[in-house]
Amino acid sequence: MSIISNAYSGEQFMNSRLMISAITTVVGLTFSTASLAWLEEGGERDEALTLKPDHENGIEVYEVCAGCHLTEGWGKPDGTFPQLAGQHPEVLVKQLADIREGNRDNPTMYPFAIPESIGGAQALADVVHYTAKLPMNPENGKGEWAEGTPEFDQGKKLYKDNCVECHGENGEGKADKFYPLIQGQHYKYMMRQFEWIRDGKRRNANPDMVKQIKSFTDKDMQMVINYVSRIPVPKEKLAPSKDWLNPDYD
Ligand code: HEC
Ligand code: HEC
Repeated sequence: MSIISNAYSGEQFMNSRLMISAITTVVGLTFSTASLAWLEEGGERDEALTLKPDHENGIEVYEVCAGCHLTEGWGKPDGTFPQLAGQHPEVLVKQLADIREGNRDNPTMYPFAIPESIGGAQALADVVHYTAKLPMNPENGKGEWAEGTPEFDQGKKLYKDNCVECHGENGEGKADKFYPLIQGQHYKYMMRQFEWIRDGKRRNANPDMVKQIKSFTDKDMQMVINYVSRIPVPKEKLAPSKDWLNPDYD
């Protein structure tokens, strides 16, 4: 008798679990519209941007990040990890806060980026100011079409017509608007993000960018990102050589 009633309540439990997960799915869908998640006010991002960064603590916090983004902050040309060096601190803070608040999915990084691992808004301010100032990788991963090919030219045209307004003439972005610097970023990383933004998978995307690129074919996407990956980065933002090692770590 007791076995039966246990089994019965077990089934009820299952049902309520299913119902909760059905409800969460619906709520999840509602929140996955880009406009809601793009730039909510009053979160950790806004708080971190008002704090005075501590350089030494930035070095300390970045140590855990270096495990994936590398000590130099250069990420990997194979696209697994983005370059962080040289990115606007505002953009880095936004992405970190979005990842921490669940507005951008990043299951690989999530456990290393939460307050329990690195601390609160002050840690965000410290680590982003440190990484933003690192010199950039002189040899970022590039697409397959060199300057002079028709695909390069077509990519350049697509860029001028669709991207300059936000990412700037040379992919330098706009810090105060949270538009990322994309010059010098790895081709394969950008391909993944661009596709996720186009297809609605990156939930914190800017809704106007989504609109702008929604008719891009896969070939358009390859050509425009190929062009972006080949925009020269100003010399003063680059490390002196590809063999440069970050002296803050040994
Ligand atoms: C276990 C590996 C791992 C660790 C550790 C890690 N990250 Fe990441 N990070 C990633 C991956 C993977 C991505 C790209 C995810 C994607 O493709 O959407 C990423 C993306 C980011 C981005 C977004 C970049 C952009 O251009 O939008 C920022 C900012 C970032 N990481 C900062 C950090 C900081 C700061 C730390 C340390 C506190 C850290 N990461 C630790 C794996 C990691
Ligand atoms: C209306 C402004 C706007 C336009 C137009 C736009 N973007 Fe973006 N783009 C953004 C913003 C804002 C983000 C960051 C969104 C976020 O906070 O997650 C972004 C993100 C990206 C990323 C991911 C960067 C990273 O570090 O993760 C790439 C790559 C990119 N854009 C390329 C392009 C290209 C190429 C075009 C033109 C075909 C374009 N964008 C047009 C605003 C724009």
